[in-house]
Amino acid sequence: MNEIGPIHALTADYYTDPGIYRRTVERIFERSWQYVCHESQIPEAGDFLAFTLLDQDLFVVRGRDGGVRCFYNVCRHRGHPLVSETGRARVLVCPYHAWSYELDGRLRAAPGSKAVPGFDASAICLTELRVDTFLGFVFISLDPEIPPMADLYPGVANAVRALCPDIGGRRFAHEHTAHEFCNWLVAVENYNECYHCGHVHKSFADGVIDGATYDIQPFGVGRVLNHTSKAASGEGAWYDTSGSDYGSFYLFPAFSLQIYPGGVVNTYYWRPVAHDDTIVHRGWFSRDGAVDDALQKVIDLDRETTFAEDLALVKAVQRGLGSRGYRPGPLVVSPSCGINSEHSIAALHQWVRETIS
Ligand code: FES
Ligand SMILES: [Fe+2]
Repeated sequence: MNEIGPIHALTADYYTDPGIYRRTVERIFERSWQYVCHESQIPEAGDFLAFTLLDQDLFVVRGRDGGVRCFYNVCRHRGHPLVSETGRARVLVCPYHAWSYELDGRLRAAPGSKAVPGFDASAICLTELRVDTFLGFVFISLDPEIPPMADLYPGVANAVRALCPDIGGRRFAHEHTAHEFCNWLVAVENYNECYHCGHVHKSFADGVIDGATYDIQPFGVGRVLNHTSKAASGEGAWYDTSGSDYGSFYLFPAFSLQIYPGGVVNTYYWRPVAHDDTIVHRGWFSRDGAVDDALQKVIDLDRETTFAEDLALVKAVQRGLGSRGYRPGPLVVSPSCGINSEHSIAALHQWVRETIS
């Protein structure tokens, strides 16, 4: 950021080249924490939730000891998936030949196996992945050596608690998802600058934040971008925003926890599915897990304005990046930062370059 002259955006191949995408998956997504759900979505022993991440079918399940575990969703016999969607089970029974597994992954019984000389059920266990819970949110990683989230994103948990003291008592209330038809980096770049807010997100700019006070800064020593703003206070405010400011914490590469003014907790998670497609997960979390009228209004306003506006933007940018006429432009990095500065984009590009180069 100390170069003479403006920093330029990344070349288009970072967003359009399937080979660079595969390297990104290997070096960034297979070596980081990926969001799955909120703890409150699997509250009781035996509660499970199946999902797909980077072409792998996985599930998380709450054990009898209260811990959350994650396994590849595949039977150790001959490969049938074990569970689908969500549910509650006393033991995990494979739909194919009825091998059953304990909630901690150990094989419990395999019909007919006692007649097999040398069949050692105690040696068979589902293949497990790393799990971490962070402020009540459940993350998993394909990397068995990855440090805990608290080490990778130091200071974030305390900063979130300062802004939203009851974050630990939140419950999952609502989630919707959408294909974005763009590279994951297009989506997270779009999220991590508010240069377009005044022009595109007029409802959000008047309804949630105070644009004159909006800023985005790298946070601490982790790969974190912290968005801060005073609350909207004019006639366009979406709700009574008094009580506390706006803050969001983007944790590289693909998760952001947002505290809207007055403690309205919500999340973004971007799950890459191809070099030119990403599924965005938009989550909302209330004190009792219910969506009351006030929260429903915010969810609807967000979905109809900011969320829809961003979907259109990122899809259009992905198409533009495939144009033979595109040349990376200079970033608008303002020394004073603020809402119209793209210093956050420069930080993102730096993190991508140093990870995949
Ligand atoms: S594949 Fe699961 S019991 Fe045979
Ligand atoms: Fe946006």
